[in-house]
Amino acid sequence: MEKPKRYLSGIQPSGELHLGNYFGAMKQHIENQHGNDSLYFIANYHSLTTIQDAKKLKKLTFEVALSYLACGLDPNKAILFKQSDVPEITQLMWFLMTVTPMGLLQKAVSYKDKIAKGIAANAGLFNYPVLMAADILAYDSNIVPVGKDQVQHVEIARDLAIKFNGIFGDVFVIPDYKLSSSPYVPGVDGSKMSKSYGNTILIFDEGKELKKKVMSIVTSSEPLEAQKNPDTCNIFALYKLLAPKEKVSEMAENYRKGNYGFGHAKMALLEEINTYFEPFRERRKELEKKPSFLLDVLREGGKKARGMAKMTLQRALQSVGIE
Ligand code: ADP
Ligand code: TRP
Repeated sequence: MEKPKRYLSGIQPSGELHLGNYFGAMKQHIENQHGNDSLYFIANYHSLTTIQDAKKLKKLTFEVALSYLACGLDPNKAILFKQSDVPEITQLMWFLMTVTPMGLLQKAVSYKDKIAKGIAANAGLFNYPVLMAADILAYDSNIVPVGKDQVQHVEIARDLAIKFNGIFGDVFVIPDYKLSSSPYVPGVDGSKMSKSYGNTILIFDEGKELKKKVMSIVTSSEPLEAQKNPDTCNIFALYKLLAPKEKVSEMAENYRKGNYGFGHAKMALLEEINTYFEPFRERRKELEKKPSFLLDVLREGGKKARGMAKMTLQRALQSVGIE
């Protein structure tokens, strides 16, 4: 029998998680936990390149862990942990830095984008992809499920592993990326949903707040009677992610027939968001009552992950001639 693939991915604790994070990343992480070997971690070292507020970082780290568990990550199946519980990562990062061409990092889109947005560059931001490569390579990961924006980083990890192995022998497993089936979720304004654009619907929004956001989704100004194209509508794009197939076909037909207003569509979307996320909200409320359970999950996960990283580090130390 073929050996199960090892999946690994990380998510930065840089804000409360939204539907783009869920459908673009978390959903597939949670699905992969069945029948695969999977590790998911909270990339708090990476967040230090942008968050310099201890209270905020702590709160958001807890928030990401809570969200994963509430959305169905089972700590008996997948390993959930904090990046910082595996300090070997920073050691591995050094080994990788010594084989990283400067030009490779200068070309990294995430770095170039942040600079273009006026975020002051620190060396951490510049070396961000090397830390990410260490994350990926430390656990002998085969598959890294990510959104489109992270593909280049996984390719860098792959390049560095090949280069290091070429010089020092077979130390690292060569990873590959995997895109989710919804790599692009639009926000309420129609551009990519992102916490930096203030256009998000959060996974745990509910009640009036949620309704207000759904009602604010930008649509065309066609009148009620008009026959409409569902495929260019932001409401429909979100509805498709959540509703059962029959309901999606029904809404598409309503759009095409006409006499179906955007208000109707928004109410239908609101109902589906509530149905989809209600069980997660309930689980979250339960989990919030037992923070020590959450801390135990992270601690246990950290121990297991660290055990794996130590073995990889040992191979690296021997291969370069330090041990
Ligand atoms: P944000 O853009 O809100 O800062 P992150 O960069 O922290 O989100 O993304 C965390 C994960 O969620 C990544 O794997 C990313 O690809 C995915 N993701 C974020 N926003 C979206 C979106 N709008 N559509 C699809 N995937 C997304
Ligand atoms: N850079 C990723 C993001 O912003 C987070 C991340 C850090 C990651 N290390 C990783 C993702 C390793 C996959 C694998 O979304």
